[in-house]
Amino acid sequence: MKPAQIERTPFADLDRQPREMTTMLLAALEEMGRHPEIRRVRNTAMQALRPAAGWRVLDAGSGAGDVARWIATEVGPAGEVIALDYSAATIAAAVERHDGSNVRYTTGDVSAIDLPSDNVDGVWCERVLQHIDDADLAIAELIRVTRPGGRVCLIDTDWSSLAFDGVPPRLARTVVSGMHGRLTPRQVDMGRTLRRRLVGKGLSDVSATPVTCVFGDPASAAVVLPMVNPMVPEQAWMTAPGVREKWFSHVDEAGARGDFLAVLTIWAVAGTVA
Ligand SMILES: C[S@@+](CC[C@H](N)C(=O)[O-])C[C@H]1O[C@@H](n2cnc3c(N)ncnc32)[C@H](O)[C@@H]1O
Repeated sequence: MKPAQIERTPFADLDRQPREMTTMLLAALEEMGRHPEIRRVRNTAMQALRPAAGWRVLDAGSGAGDVARWIATEVGPAGEVIALDYSAATIAAAVERHDGSNVRYTTGDVSAIDLPSDNVDGVWCERVLQHIDDADLAIAELIRVTRPGGRVCLIDTDWSSLAFDGVPPRLARTVVSGMHGRLTPRQVDMGRTLRRRLVGKGLSDVSATPVTCVFGDPASAAVVLPMVNPMVPEQAWMTAPGVREKWFSHVDEAGARGDFLAVLTIWAVAGTVA
């Protein structure tokens, strides 16, 4: 029998994407990082990680490196951040954005980290595990490289929590289920599984905070939600012809009336390594 094919997302291997696609995705990630709701998620996660001055922290799947540079300010000049990402193009883009802070950028796989055991005081892993074939294997690696008493902080989305108001409910359901058809099973509910995964690996002092991001207008939502972003090409839509146009016309009308609403829960989960 043929083994089941593992579904991949573009973020699973950015270097295999056309260069323009990688550039576009990185720009989108940076814009997301500036969004007030994503900043609220990150502030929640930072409080859960509790990095101290002098800590050595691994940012696993660091993207453009904006969080790594922020953590570097938290751990101060005596600390260090290792920004690790699978994609060489992404690490090159992060290096271009370097601001002189104490960040070391490196390519690597979160599922086989090239660091000794007990090497870091803390780990940040944001919106990465939903793109990984075996999230538990990656989490085991994150725990392995963290010293006893160190903290592991995981942040991920629950795409199945996505909901809209101000637009016709049936149309919203069609659009959301079309998007869910494009998601891998891991992406649908990774956020809510993180607490179970850390508890199962024996971490203590586990905190799990669902941050429900609220988008009160289409322009704000478009930064985080692809189905509200008119720049996402029509080919990426898995809905019947005409649905996209109808959807955007209702989204625009709701925006003009001021009653557009979208909500999405992102989880910030952290625990202490035994
Ligand atoms: C959605 S982005 C999130 C980036 C960043 N953490 C943020 O929140 O802005 C996912 C990142 O994980 C990286 N990634 C995917 N699979 C990886 C793996 N196996 N090991 C390390 N990084 C990986 C991708 O290259 C990408 O930069």
